[in-house]
Amino acid sequence: MTVTDQVHVLIVGAGFAGLTAAIECKRHGHQVTLLESFPEVKALGDIISFGANAGRIFKRWPGVEEQFDKICIQSKGLLFKNYLGEDLIYQDWDKEPYYGKNFNGHRGEMHEIIYRHAIEVGVDIKLGHRVTDYFETDTEAGVVANGERFSADVVLAADGVRSKGRQIVLGYDDKPKSSGYAIFRTWFPAGELATNPLTKFMCENGDYHCGWLGPDIHFLAATTKGGKDFSWVCTHKDEADIEESWSTPGKLEDARKVLEGWEPAVQAIIDATPPDSLVDWKLVYRDPLPTWVSPKARIALIGDAAHPFLPTSIQGASQAMEDGATIAVTLELAGKQKAPEAIRAFEAIRYGRVRAAQLTGESTREKWHKADFDNLKNTPEKIKLPREEWLLGHDAEKHAYEVYNETIAALEAKA
Ligand SMILES: Cc1cc2nc3c(=O)[nH]c(=O)nc-3n(C[C@H](O)[C@H](O)[C@H](O)COP(=O)(O)OP(=O)(O)OC[C@H]3O[C@@H](n4cnc5c(N)ncnc54)[C@H](O)[C@@H]3O)c2cc1C
Ligand SMILES: *[C@@H]1O[C@H](CO)[C@@H](O)[C@H](O)[C@H]1NC(C)=O
Repeated sequence: MTVTDQVHVLIVGAGFAGLTAAIECKRHGHQVTLLESFPEVKALGDIISFGANAGRIFKRWPGVEEQFDKICIQSKGLLFKNYLGEDLIYQDWDKEPYYGKNFNGHRGEMHEIIYRHAIEVGVDIKLGHRVTDYFETDTEAGVVANGERFSADVVLAADGVRSKGRQIVLGYDDKPKSSGYAIFRTWFPAGELATNPLTKFMCENGDYHCGWLGPDIHFLAATTKGGKDFSWVCTHKDEADIEESWSTPGKLEDARKVLEGWEPAVQAIIDATPPDSLVDWKLVYRDPLPTWVSPKARIALIGDAAHPFLPTSIQGASQAMEDGATIAVTLELAGKQKAPEAIRAFEAIRYGRVRAAQLTGESTREKWHKADFDNLKNTPEKIKLPREEWLLGHDAEKHAYEVYNETIAALEAKA
């Protein structure tokens, strides 16, 4: 590729969507600039999961898997219990179909590794740049950040659930709704949970993963780093105001109220939780956006900006990564002169798949929350996490190469 053919990609947001798009665009020969509003990279968040469909993407980045192996959860399965503490079923990963390696760990630690990798491969990252406006013409697209204009061939708005890029794409301000649920989340050193007789089963044999199910609530706990760190999340009913933030403090007494009557091990976990480590995050719901692409097809929304996921899909971050892996290929095949074609093809390739993946979040939550708790012990197979080939066996990069020509042909036939 000559330098004049090289596509200049401007990315907004250094979450997993933005960083993946940046790294993949570099791998496919494009020039990349990335703007992020955070002035520095801090290890924020708690537990995050990447399925095998994302693991496949990480594995193409030299050195990343080795670093992840040192920090990621190594549990061998997931034990489901009911809220009274009775065992329902153990989902043993070794006995399930294998679609490739998945990676689960601390979001901040994993993010830092990917951030450093992006810098290593030459992504030009500008921190402390809050994007306040987007624009596009027939020949370029760009943004305004800190009063300065940046332009490129295309812009990828990877600016998360509160995306500013959505406005130019949709032509209106999109308002999220409450999903009717919120999630308590935390991560802290296992400490006394490792010695408490009620909870030490989770800490004494390396990493362990346990889920408790009750009416309209589920509680998932995991140990990591060989049982030294502890993390739990609890999805519960909540109609309160929408605050799409990771930093909303949660109150332990609210969690206690939600989990009243649940088995003593759950109470012990709450008692051991450092009060200032708890977050109460409202889960928003958004009808699928009609499009992720701006009118002149030089700006695309990717990741949560385009499609927020419910945590029960366990696919939000993985699908954000598939977006970047796909767009790097479509830009390579289209080239600089036809960059808008690449942006349209990206949306056409991804839209139906993302929607299907989003819906798994609703179906899993419903089957857990609305289970027939009186009879669950007789039919425990039903509550296992779905592990499906179409979702986890997918290779976004390979798929994009395979379907690009037919996708363009279909788009041309529609136009
Ligand atoms: C601080 C933080 C903590 C999180 N913790 C968890 C967690 O523990 N578990 C979990 O499952 N998910 C967590 N998430 C969400 C998760 O990372 C995403 O759902 C998923 O990975 C998709 O990522 P994304 O890149 O699309 O969005 P995000 O991860 O939300 O990234 C968006 C990025 O864009 C930046 N940005 C936003 N607006 C602008 C702007 N105007 N100009 C420049 N930059 C902008 C943000 O600062 C952010 O870095 C967290 C997200 C954030 C931002
Ligand atoms: C797509 O089309 C191009 C040119 O029209 C061709 O060179 C290429 O082999 C085709 N790719 C596939 C996967 O069919």
